[in-house]
Amino acid sequence: MKVVSSRFPISRPRRLRSSSSIRSLVQENTFSISDLIWPIFVCEGTKKKEEIKSMPDVYRMSIDVALEEINKYHLLGLNAVALFPCVSESDKSADCKNAWYHDNLANKSTRVIKKEFPELLVMLDVALDPYNIHGHDGLVKNGRVLNDETLECLVRQALSHAEAGADILGPSDMMDGRIGRIRQGLEEQNHQETIILSYSAKYASSFYGGFRDAVGSGKVLQGNKKTYQLDFSNSNEALRMVHRDLTEGADMVMVKPGLPYLDICQRIKDNFNIPVFAYQVSGEFSMLQNAIRKNLIPRELAILETIFAFKRAGCSGILTYFAPMIADYLITQEST
Ligand code: PBG
Repeated sequence: MKVVSSRFPISRPRRLRSSSSIRSLVQENTFSISDLIWPIFVCEGTKKKEEIKSMPDVYRMSIDVALEEINKYHLLGLNAVALFPCVSESDKSADCKNAWYHDNLANKSTRVIKKEFPELLVMLDVALDPYNIHGHDGLVKNGRVLNDETLECLVRQALSHAEAGADILGPSDMMDGRIGRIRQGLEEQNHQETIILSYSAKYASSFYGGFRDAVGSGKVLQGNKKTYQLDFSNSNEALRMVHRDLTEGADMVMVKPGLPYLDICQRIKDNFNIPVFAYQVSGEFSMLQNAIRKNLIPRELAILETIFAFKRAGCSGILTYFAPMIADYLITQEST
C-alpha cells in the first residue's frame, strides 16, 4: 500500500468526513436490499404465524402467510429467499426419506413461490437434519454420522429440490464429496442451471440454537456436529474446504456463522476472488435483537453496521433474518 506522505496540517482527513455529501462521495462500500437472502421458516397448514421464542420477531409461517410477506418485501427489492421447512414429527425418520419426497414441505413451498414470483430466487438447504429423528445432517448408525451412505440421500434430496424449481442449492451438511456428487447428479438429470452455494466454511458453532428450535432438530440432536462441521480454532482448513468445493462444482461459497468469522470471509475473498456469502445466523440475530429490544443499541443503525462489516470483508451477499427489517428501514430512508 502506498503511504500518502503529507502531514498535518497539510493533511486533514476530517475534510473528507465534514458533510454527509462528501462522506457519501468517498464511501468505499455500498449495499442494497438485493444483496440479501432472507431465510424463512415454513410450516404445514394455513394462516399460521408462530413466533420462535429464541428469535424474537421471527416466525414459522404457513405458505399462504409466507407468500404475502414475500410479496411485500419483493416489492421493496428483495430478490432472494432461503426456505427452511419445519417438518412435522411424523415426517421425521432414521432414513430421512421425506428429504427427497417430491411433495415434501420444502418442495411444495418452492413450487408455490416460484409460480407466483418466477424471478425471485429460491434457495433450499441440502442436509438431512430437518428430516432426521437424530437431528444430525447425515444418516446415523451406532452413534456415528455416516458419510458415503449420506451422499446418496443428499443427491436424491438435491434432485428433488431442483425438480421443484429451486434456483440455488445450499449443501449445508459438510459431508465429504457432496458437492461433486450433487453436481454430477444435476448434470445427469439436465439441471445444468441449478446454482450451488456451498456452505464450505461451516463451523461447529454455539450460535445455531435458535435455528434448531425453529426447525425442531435441537431437541432430538444427540451429541454435537464436530465430526463434520469445522473446528472454530481453524482458518487454513476453511480455505482448503473452499478450494475443494470449487473444484467439485460449487458456484459460490458461504461462511457460517457470520460476524465472528469475518476473517474467514476476507481470506476466502482474497485467495479465490469468487462470490462469498456470509450467514448471519440465528444466535447472532438473537443477540442483536435482544440488545435492540432492551434499547442497549439502536435498531436500524446497529443492524446496518453489521451488514457493512460483511461488505467490507468482501461478501457479495448476506443471509440474514434482519432482511425484512432492513427493507422497511431503507424504504423509510428513501421517502425522507
Ligand atoms: C442445518 C443448518 C443449520 C443452520 C442452517 N442449516 C443448523 C445446524 O447446522 O445445526 C443454522 C442457521 C442458523 O442458525 O440461523 N444443516
